[in-house]
Amino acid sequence: MGSAFFYYSMKDTLKQIETEARQAILKTQLLSQLESKKVEYLGRKGIINQLLQKLPKIPQREKVGFGKEVNQLKVTITNLLSFQEQTLKQQTLEQQKHEFFDVTLPTKPLNGHLHLVTYAIREITAIFERIGFIRVSYPEVDYDWYAFESLNMPKNHAARDEWETFFVDMPTDKKLGEIVLTPHTSNGQVREMERLGKPPIRMINIGKCYRRQSDVSHSPMFHQFEGLVVDKGISIPDLKGTLDYFAREYFGPTRRTRIRPFHFQFTEPSFEVDVSCDLCDGHGCRMCKAGWLEIGGAGMVHPNVLKAGNIDPEKYTGFAFGWGVERVLLMKQGIKIPDLRMLYSSDVR
Ligand code: PHE
Repeated sequence: MGSAFFYYSMKDTLKQIETEARQAILKTQLLSQLESKKVEYLGRKGIINQLLQKLPKIPQREKVGFGKEVNQLKVTITNLLSFQEQTLKQQTLEQQKHEFFDVTLPTKPLNGHLHLVTYAIREITAIFERIGFIRVSYPEVDYDWYAFESLNMPKNHAARDEWETFFVDMPTDKKLGEIVLTPHTSNGQVREMERLGKPPIRMINIGKCYRRQSDVSHSPMFHQFEGLVVDKGISIPDLKGTLDYFAREYFGPTRRTRIRPFHFQFTEPSFEVDVSCDLCDGHGCRMCKAGWLEIGGAGMVHPNVLKAGNIDPEKYTGFAFGWGVERVLLMKQGIKIPDLRMLYSSDVR
């Protein structure tokens, strides 16, 4: 008899808990309140678990019945919680819909501006146009032939490793080969020779390049500007003069360049170009270490490249250089961008 009594009184208690829970849950106005109700009932130390902890003390015959009742209560409370959650979320949405926002209110306009790289490209273009270069744009997705092979880099040549190239999964062309995301703007060299048919050539090709790289001074997509001059009697002093001119115009009147021997397949001789540091003027300081900042590659166009562009290397010579737009931009005085990738992070600050 005692046990039957226990069972019935427990049933009443559970009913009462359910009634209270229903009222409390349906009364909540905020998701945060609802969350604390959830903890109160279903949490580790919550009411349902407290009830289940009584289980060992319950007479054997009633254990099953009691367990079932508590589980039923748990289901009911869970349903109530999720019903109320839906209701509250719906209410929030409705409120947002009716919130009035007057888009015609006057505000202080934010002044937009072009991307820093766009400014740099425009400035570089203008500097070279002043000395007779013609701005062109060539494909950013191009054939292996233009990106490598015509530049004196036969298939499987080790020099290709320098350009960590993305290959595009597309049908290849019998003559021109595979398709790549251009890893440098040098693909414009032979294309420009083909476009003009014969010298004189004074090209400035600016475009996007892609390499498998990413760190503070490299991003997988970046820009290069490529100069190419081909004519009768072009020699290293012409290259050096052009580089000095650019350094003065872009970085400031006191800046100079120097060239160091280097190797590229498509130029002979080849150079690495440095610009004098603007803090110490080439003497060496903490910023630049040895007085000079490395800026990019250059050289005299290799005869094989002229031949690939149907130009007679016995009659004509030329020079070329290819530098990073972001690189010269970050080297410009007053620009303080600690990580090149910030230029492409879409964070307007
Ligand atoms: N294409 C070379 C590079 O990406 C740069 C370069 C261009 C060097 C033209 C020499 C002549 O590093």
